[in-house]
Amino acid sequence: MRQPLVAGNWKMHGSLATNQRLLDKAGLAGLSGARFAVCVPFPYLFQVGQALAGTAIAWGAQTLSEHDSGAYTGEVAGPMLRDFGCRYVLAGHSERRSIYGERDPQVAAKFVAAQRAGLTPILCVGETLAERESGATEAVVGSQLDAVIDAAGAKALAEAVVAYEPVWAIGTGKTATPGQAQAVHEFIRARVAKAAGDALASGLAILYGGSVKASNAAELFAQRDVDGGLIGGASLVADDFVAICRAAAAKGH
Ligand code: 13P
Repeated sequence: MRQPLVAGNWKMHGSLATNQRLLDKAGLAGLSGARFAVCVPFPYLFQVGQALAGTAIAWGAQTLSEHDSGAYTGEVAGPMLRDFGCRYVLAGHSERRSIYGERDPQVAAKFVAAQRAGLTPILCVGETLAERESGATEAVVGSQLDAVIDAAGAKALAEAVVAYEPVWAIGTGKTATPGQAQAVHEFIRARVAKAAGDALASGLAILYGGSVKASNAAELFAQRDVDGGLIGGASLVADDFVAICRAAAAKGH
């Protein structure tokens, strides 16, 4: 059976002091039954690694360079993230795509760079409201997946993690219904199965992200193909994040 995963995405939030308070509460929660992680701003990786070493919560980053080293001012490479004990890294978050102009080929190159460094990429895919309303959800998500399948291979994608994050649900308080999430998750698994085979696709963790809260996590995670969540705002509130982790753990037990 697939083990659920809950990953917090802190985005560009935090300070040494507020992180410490959050980590003190979350790290000591004695969680089991699922996998847990937080993806934090680069400068805090050392602090977070120190605080979470030996706990059930892994840590990671929110993006990386597609290159391993070189003259790329301001960038951070996969091997550097490994140096700081990262297990996960996001690739292609919608904010990277929309604000920083990352397109499918670059996202795919980052995905490949992450795996090359021994990290598990969490590939983010999802449609805008206009794309959903025009009936293009599957076309958009399908081509985002295909870009990575073409660059990395279907097996590599099946060994990673996919997060379905409808852009219209991110930070808006508007959550996809469990039915809407399940439909796209099922589509994603079928697309990967077509390329990698049923056995590999059935092991792929597909997370839902977009206004997941303590109050709606359980019904989302109850869906057959929803294997946990990628959590933004609620991951900054220790009690909420722990409650969401417990909902995933309940599915995993
Ligand atoms: P919110 O949970 O704040 O909607 O953010 C979702 C997200 O973008 C996680 O990567």
